[in-house]
Parts: sequence; structure tokens; C-alpha cells
Amino acid sequence: MDRLRITGGKPLHGTVAIAGAKNAALPQIAAALLSPHPVELSNLPLVSDVENMLCVAELYGAKVTRNAHCATIDAKEIAAREVSYETVRRMRATVLFLGPLLARFGVARVSLPGGCAIGARPVDMHLKALEMLGAEIGMEGGLIVARASDGLNGTRVILSSPSVGATETTMMAATSARGETEILNAAREPEVADLAACLNAMGAKIEGAGTHRIIIEGDTAWRAAAHHIIPDRIEAGTYAVAAAITGGALELVNARMENLAAVIQALEVMGVNVWPSDRGLVVSRNAPLRTADLTTEPYPGFPTDLQAQFMALACCAEGTSLFRETIFENRFMHVPELTRLGADISLQGTTAVVRGGRPLKGAQVMATDLRASVCLVLAALAAEGETVINRVYHIDRGYEQLDRKLAQCGADIERLRA
Ligand code: UD1
Repeated sequence: MDRLRITGGKPLHGTVAIAGAKNAALPQIAAALLSPHPVELSNLPLVSDVENMLCVAELYGAKVTRNAHCATIDAKEIAAREVSYETVRRMRATVLFLGPLLARFGVARVSLPGGCAIGARPVDMHLKALEMLGAEIGMEGGLIVARASDGLNGTRVILSSPSVGATETTMMAATSARGETEILNAAREPEVADLAACLNAMGAKIEGAGTHRIIIEGDTAWRAAAHHIIPDRIEAGTYAVAAAITGGALELVNARMENLAAVIQALEVMGVNVWPSDRGLVVSRNAPLRTADLTTEPYPGFPTDLQAQFMALACCAEGTSLFRETIFENRFMHVPELTRLGADISLQGTTAVVRGGRPLKGAQVMATDLRASVCLVLAALAAEGETVINRVYHIDRGYEQLDRKLAQCGADIERLRA
């Protein structure tokens, strides 16, 4: 397994090109299986989660033609066959195939998902929504089986909380239902709106994505489509922290201010400057960091996917910062590893209390999940001396060429190949 060796203390300066959003790409790859016509996705990030999702699409029989950041998915001749647990266990997002396969074939079998070990992460809301659309849901030997022999029927689906995945599953399945579906309490994440844009390019009629109420007209007449994926707001937020934690200045090309309001607000509270440029955003810091009091919330609130990175930043701010995690119950796995680097953090239930200002010192640490791992990279960039991060494959799941992008901006970082 590859490791990263980082020697901290170098301010980062330069330009980082923000890739396409992993969390927008994954549901769109699944959505391509709804249509018998080819779907061309551009601005795909070259990360292993996307590669795995494309491989699963191929296992269902789709023809995938890849060309750098583009892939054309032709699902003319797919079948709703089973895909082995080994293939899907590493990725929770494979549950996103359930809605499209059910909609297209009237039956779908999908393994219970794996993915980041950040809490129980059930899929009950996905299943309940499909039941409301007329599916029968059962379990057979660890597989979720959804059946709708007479097709799905449009209806009102009220989500008990605004789950991103459940909103996407419902939206995709409803495109092929009879009549209209209304999703209430829908997730408002930009990735949900981007999935709707992709589905609409494919021929669907979806309105309201990006708000709490989404209307989907069923019985879609599919057509060939091309869609350009939105930039990754979480990658942008991560490099914003890299600029801030090292006291440098980075231009984040492609970053969209409008998708980062809560993140920019948090940066400004902490004493970091953010302003728009012609190509994206510029983030810089030349004054001491200040403490923060952050609570993760569904979009447009502060994203749980940036909680770990901002905790690394708070470790470098003199005084006490508070982090409340409201989305996932077990998303503090970076805390013991940050402690190894010299951080002073205590956990009280779903709140982490960070007493910042103690100098961080390089050490051997272990990556545990995607965002926790990148938080260790950020802390290492600010730490004195050398840090070695083990199990870097977690980072490769969601960050395209992180080590190269950081090195180009002046970081002392090296990938130690296994
Ligand atoms: C997506 C993102 C992930 C991000 C998360 C929250 C993708 C591929 N992943 O994950 O990076 O951290 O949104 O912004 O887009 N829940 C249930 N039952 C369900 C579904 C969800 O209880 O059926 C719970 C989850 O356990 C979690 C909360 O709802 O506590 C939010 O989950 P959800 O919004 O569904 O996240 P994902 O779509 O899995």
C-alpha cells in the first residue's frame, strides 16, 4: 500500500485545478443505465471511486469508452444481473444502481453497500421511497431485491430527512414511473441538481432540483446525451484549507463561490481571505488563525465532508474551537490520528473540542477514511518535521493526484510506492 511522506512548514503558493465532483459523477454513472442511448460524461475526476463505479456499470453490461476525463456509457444491452459483494463492498455508492435497474427492468438486486466506515449509514430511506413508487423490497442472502413487475407509479415521496442518496435514488427511479412524482424534503446539494441536469439532458423532465421540492414527470423518452460534471466543492474546500493552514495563497481554478458559501464564511471567521478571480477563487492567509464553532448540516449548511479538514485547521488556531457533527455518528476517526501529531482534542458525544495553538509535530499516522485521511495531509503540511501517512488508497478514492497538485504549489510531499 502506498504511503505519503510530507515535511511540513512550507507555505503553498500557486494554482490548483479543481476536478469534477466525485459525488456528482457517481450517481450520473448509475443514471446512464436508465437509458438505452449513450451518455457522455465529461469532467469526470480520475479517482478510484469513479473508476470502480464505471467497472460496476460494465459488469451490468454497459459499454464504457474512456478518454481521460470523459467516459461514454452505452447501456443499450445491459442486464439486471447480480454483481458480486467483493466488487461493491468498498463503495456505498453502488446502492445508486438500485433505482435505475429497477426502473428499467422491474427487478434489481444490489449488495448491501460498504464504503467509508463512518457510522451505520443505512439505506432505509432509499428502500422506503422505492416502496412508495410501488416496488416490493426484500432481502435474499445479503442482497437487496427490489421488484416492480408492473412498473413504478409516480406519487408523493416525503423523505424523513434530506438524504442525498435517497433523493437521487427516488429521482432516478421516478423518471421511468407512470405519471408525476413529487419529492418533499429533498436534499438540496449541488450534486443533486447536477444529477437532474444530466437526467434532463438524457430526456427526463425534472424541476426544482436544488430545492426542497422536486417534481419529476415519468415515462421519459430517452435520448443520447452529453453532460459536463460540476467542479468538486469538497476538493476546493480542501485546497482552501491547504492555503490557510500553511499561511500561503492558492488560486482554485474552477471553484464556484456560490456552492461554497458556508465554507467561505467559516474560512473568513478563522481569519482567512477569500475572493473571486476570473477563473475561480483565491484563498490566502497572512494573519494568525482564529477559532471557529462549526456545526455540520445538510447543504447549504457547512458540509460534513469538510469537517475533518477544518478540524486540522482549528488545531493551528490559538484557543478553543468546537465541532458538532450532526450528519454521521462516527465521523471523528481523524481525532486520534491528529492527537498523534500533537493536537489537543477531546470528544464529548457528537462534539469535538479542539484546544488549538500547540505546535503540530510530524509522526506516523494512519488514513482511516477519505476525508479523515486528507485532514492528516493538511495537518502534516503545517507540522514540524516529517509525517508518514499510511493507507493512502483512501485518499485516491476521492482526490485526483493530490500529491502532485500539492507538490506543484511548493509542498514537500512524496508518494512512497508499496
Ligand atoms: C452523500 C455523499 C457523502 C456525504 C453525504 C452527506 C455521495 C456519493 N456521498 O452520501 O460524501 O458525506 O452525502 O453530505 O454523494 N441515512 C439513513 N437512511 C438512508 C440514507 C441515509 O439513515 O436511507 C442517513 C445516513 O446514515 C446519514 C444521513 O442520513 O446519517 C445523511 O446521509 P446521505 O445524505 O444519504 O448521504 P449519502 O448519500 O450516503
